[in-house]
Amino acid sequence: MIGVFDSGAGGLCALKELSRLRPASAFLYYADTAALPFGEKSPAFIRERIRRALSFFKEQGADAVLFACGTASSYLTDECKQLFTFPIFDILTPAAQAASGYARVGLIATKATVARAHFAAALAASGERTVFSLACPTLVPLAEEGGRRGRLEVRRALSPLVPAEPDALVLGCTHFSLLQAPIARALPRAVLIDAAAHAAKAVADALPGKEEAPLCRFAVTGRTEDFYRTACRVLGRRLPRDAFFKV
Ligand code: DGL
Repeated sequence: MIGVFDSGAGGLCALKELSRLRPASAFLYYADTAALPFGEKSPAFIRERIRRALSFFKEQGADAVLFACGTASSYLTDECKQLFTFPIFDILTPAAQAASGYARVGLIATKATVARAHFAAALAASGERTVFSLACPTLVPLAEEGGRRGRLEVRRALSPLVPAEPDALVLGCTHFSLLQAPIARALPRAVLIDAAAHAAKAVADALPGKEEAPLCRFAVTGRTEDFYRTACRVLGRRLPRDAFFKV
């Protein structure tokens, strides 16, 4: 079973892609909705939630875990990874690889991700380039709601990046994968790099195939009913209610 973590709806984009690439795999999605928005929390709080999620995945017998969350990926440390025997993936490395052909790279992410500067450093290290980081906290609730009021808010949030004229834009918060259409309209010359999709592919490529019942369960720290609706909307299908449980 592959574990996938996020604070809410964003990581579902990675899950959707992963289950497309690995139709014979079982997944356990951990939605830490009680802690949403992650990007507004302190480093100590984020690290504590990461440890809690990893202990849960261990208890459940995960073969591997993907942190489909830019914020958690930024605060995940090697010391923490070494406490667990299963492979732990983040969204930073695959996104940095995907950005390697571009000279002017924009990074949009949460406040905590931008403050930590780990993601920007990974992008800068992957070649000769200038990285422009921008925190877009207002886009997380917008993505959770389904992006209905999206266009104007997205244009407003991204306006500080317009003068930088990035040729690629990394969606460094998985929630932003749900807002790709308005983001593309706001910065039409930038190629969008969807960190969630690249991470899903990296995990699918790295793990050996395993025959198991291809089911997906959802562990939710907040209200399961709310997350049930979100997951059906993002994954685009009616999911069995009993696949959702409170942790
Ligand atoms: N989807 C998450 C990320 O990639 C977290 C958004 C939030 O909870 O603030 O950073």
